[in-house]
Amino acid sequence: MSTKEYANILISRPDPSVALITLNRPKALNALSSPLFIELNEALAEADQDDAIGAVVLTGSEKAFAAGADIKEMKDKEYSDVFKNKFLENWALMTNIRKPIIAAVSGYALGGGCELALMCDIILASPTAVFGQPEINLGVIPGGGGTQRLAHAIGKSRTMELVLTGRNFSAIEAEKWGVVSRIVGEGEGQVVKEAIDMAKVIASKGKVAVQAGKETVNAAYELSLAEGLRFERRIFHGLFATKDQKEGMSAFAEKRKPTWTHS
Ligand code: CAA
Repeated sequence: MSTKEYANILISRPDPSVALITLNRPKALNALSSPLFIELNEALAEADQDDAIGAVVLTGSEKAFAAGADIKEMKDKEYSDVFKNKFLENWALMTNIRKPIIAAVSGYALGGGCELALMCDIILASPTAVFGQPEINLGVIPGGGGTQRLAHAIGKSRTMELVLTGRNFSAIEAEKWGVVSRIVGEGEGQVVKEAIDMAKVIASKGKVAVQAGKETVNAAYELSLAEGLRFERRIFHGLFATKDQKEGMSAFAEKRKPTWTHS
């Protein structure tokens, strides 16, 4: 992955196997402008291509993961602009990334910020995290997937309440409802540190199996149970064609650590 400098995001490698992408529009609380999302998609695609990287961590600042789509950019847009130019449609490109993306959320994750976190594979929250879909207060509804991904994650009644009242929800609620996998202990930077540690663990596994696992879990959000189970079994069977399956199972039988070749 190149060390290219971007205007709206920062890229670093806290470990050779982990890419850390930090949203960096502090004055706008990381509002997700179109240029920011273009950069984010480019950086994620580069991380996906880089064989040395096994997982990506996406974070913002202590005050805001992201306070939503950029309202100042949106406010004068007309229907014909947003329709013809497929406004926000490129956001979902990140769901095609094969490597796991872990969101480390502190502070505000509102509107598009909440939707961005929901497009990641795992969300870790700091106790300060505040989620919400406040678009109703702007005369619109979520447009980055919030109505759908939240409904899948937490059910109709809660999603309806959040989308129609615009009320925020806390890290504790997010954990209770299963939006986040867990709340990480207090302390500045703690949630990012924990996400990097998790990314390192994931990156230490065989990449083929990791990517198969990500694809298969995500299929649960698209397919019926019967189709999903069939898909899982096919992918599981397919992994018997990999060297990593031979190595992983031989290493277990021989009581040694496996050496993955990611093939
Ligand atoms: N877009 C553009 N600018 C934003 C922004 C956003 N979503 N959120 C914050 N900012 C800007 C503010 O305008 C302000 O800029 P100025 O200093 O130039 O005035 C700066 O960031 C700091 O914000 P505040 O002064 O408001 O900070 P605060 O601490 O008082 O409040 C906040 C924080 C509660 C998050 C508040 O900023 C806020 O309510 N933001 C908007 C949240 C929102 O409505 N998000 C949904 C956006 S729509 C969307 O996302 C659509 C979709 O589904 C894709």
